[in-house]
Amino acid sequence: MKNELDKAAVRRMTLKDVQDVYLLEVEAFVLPWSENDFIYELTQNKVARYLVVEEAGEVVAFAGVHIIWEQAHVTNIAVKKQKKGRGYGRLITKALIQYASNLGAEYITLEVRENNLIAQNLYKSLGFIKASVRKRYYDDTGEDAWLMVCDKLSPAEPGFTETETIAET
Ligand SMILES: CC(C)(COP(=O)(O)OP(=O)(O)OC[C@H]1O[C@@H](n2cnc3c(N)ncnc32)[C@H](O)[C@@H]1OP(=O)(O)O)[C@@H](O)C(=O)NCCC(=O)NCCS
Repeated sequence: MKNELDKAAVRRMTLKDVQDVYLLEVEAFVLPWSENDFIYELTQNKVARYLVVEEAGEVVAFAGVHIIWEQAHVTNIAVKKQKKGRGYGRLITKALIQYASNLGAEYITLEVRENNLIAQNLYKSLGFIKASVRKRYYDDTGEDAWLMVCDKLSPAEPGFTETETIAET
């Protein structure tokens, strides 16, 4: 399993990834975003950043964040169904946190369903704490959302630059 992860690379999402990411989104979420939502995020939304994990030419996980001044807010994180429980979620979430720090974020927030214990465990293990509850946040089940916050980000990596753009072909 460790070897498998060693072969995985985290990189910025490009327009070429939209279809693969959309398939992961549909598989993972009851109320999925559309392909156009992702295209908007990549091409129009200046505060949005998305990462993917690629393994043997296949996108196996993705994660996104909105960064406004010192605050980063996670939009979505998902791992391909057959790849769950093998460390990809931790890999991409850690990478997303570091990326947000590199881009100037000082703390990072997210919403998670009250019944999504797997994701809550992951976030707690990375330093997130439950800050508040958003009542009946999810339309499909009426579940509450936990608002979780992590304010202990690793320092920005020295010399960080964004070389890759979403226009990459
Ligand atoms: C949540 C999700 C991203 C986690 O990704 P993953 O690759 O399965 O998780 P990892 O293998 O990296 O495990 C990371 C941690 O998650 C927790 N976790 C993973 N699988 C778990 C399980 N079956 N039961 C309880 N906790 C679990 C553990 O804390 C684990 O750390 P550990 O391995 O040190 O114990 C993935 O399950 C997913 O895509 N879920 C559907 C979409 C979703 O819920 N996204 C989050 C929305 S807020």
